[in-house]
Amino acid sequence: MDRANLDLTDRNGIITGAGQGIGRALALEFGRRGGHLLLVGRQEQTLSETARMVAAEGGTADILVEDLTRDGAVERVAAAVASWSVVDLLVNNAGNVRAGRLELTSNADVHSMIDLNLTTPILLTKALLPALRRSAADRGSILLNIASGIALVGMPFYSVYAATKSGIAQFGESLRREVFGSGVHVATVYPGATDTAMMTSQSAGAELGWERRSLEDVITDVIAALEAGEHEINTAPESRRAVQQLNITDPLAVDASIAPNLEALELAVRDHRSI
Ligand SMILES: NC(=O)c1ccc[n+]([C@@H]2O[C@H](COP(=O)([O-])OP(=O)(O)OC[C@H]3O[C@@H](n4cnc5c(N)ncnc54)[C@H](OP(=O)(O)O)[C@@H]3O)[C@@H](O)[C@H]2O)c1
Repeated sequence: MDRANLDLTDRNGIITGAGQGIGRALALEFGRRGGHLLLVGRQEQTLSETARMVAAEGGTADILVEDLTRDGAVERVAAAVASWSVVDLLVNNAGNVRAGRLELTSNADVHSMIDLNLTTPILLTKALLPALRRSAADRGSILLNIASGIALVGMPFYSVYAATKSGIAQFGESLRREVFGSGVHVATVYPGATDTAMMTSQSAGAELGWERRSLEDVITDVIAALEAGEHEINTAPESRRAVQQLNITDPLAVDASIAPNLEALELAVRDHRSI
C-alpha cells in the first residue's frame, strides 16, 4: 500500500460532528495547520465554540447547523462548500450509539444508528467525491472515516452499532480501491474506547474489554498516522491488540473469553446511549 506522507497543512474541508469529542479535536488539529473548515452538527453553541477555538489556533471555520439524518441535509452540506475552489478534506465523524440486547433495542434507535453512522457518511462522500477528486491534483485530498474498534472485534450488546461501524470500514476499503490513483486518500480510523461525552453513560472498564484512552492520546495517534500516509488507523490500547489478533485466527476463543463476563457487561452498558 502506498504510504507516501500526507501534508495536513492548509486543508479546506468539512468535519461532521465537530461540536465536541473527536470531531472537535480533529477540527483543532486541522485549524492549527491553517485549515479552512466547515463544521457541521445540530447544536449551534458547541459548533460556534469550536469555530472560535479553531480561529484561536490559526485556522478559519464556518458552521452549518444541521441534523445530518434529515432529508436534504447532505445536499445542504454540499451546497455550503459549492463555491469553495478547493475541497480537499472530508471527515465523516458524526456518530451515535445505543447499546443493549438487540431485542430490547427500539426500531427508532436501530434506524438512527444506521442513518447517522452509515447512510449519512456514504451519501456525503458520494456528494463530495467529485470535489475531492478535482482538488486532489496537487497534494491529494483526504477522506477520513471514523469507524470503531468494534468493527475489528464485535462486542455483545452492540450488534447494531458494530454493523454500522464495520459497514463504514468496509465502505472505505472498497472505495479506496475504487479511487486508486485519483489522489483521494481514503483512511479509516478504528478508535477503541475514547474518553468523550459519548462514553459517559457506559461504565465498562478494561476487565470487560473496554479499556479507555484519553482523547488527547487518540488524536495524537490519528494525526501521526495520517501524516505518515496510513490508511487503516487503529488507536486501540495495547491490551486490545492481542484480542484483535485472536479474533482473526480463532474467533470462537474470543466468544469463550467474553462469555463468563456477559452479565456484568450487560449491566455496565445497558444505559449506554448517545442518540
Ligand atoms: N468515544 C469513543 O469511545 C468512540 C470509539 C469508537 C468510535 N467512536 C466514533 O467516533 C465518532 C465521534 O465520537 P465521539 O466520542 O466524539 O462522540 P460524541 O462526543 O457523542 O460526539 C458526537 C458528535 O456527533 C454530532 N452528532 C450527533 N448526532 C448528529 C446528527 N444527527 N447530525 C449531525 N451531527 C450529529 C454531535 O453534535 P450535535 O449534538 O451538535 O449534533 C457531536 O458533535 C463517532 O462516529 C463515534 O461512533 C467513538
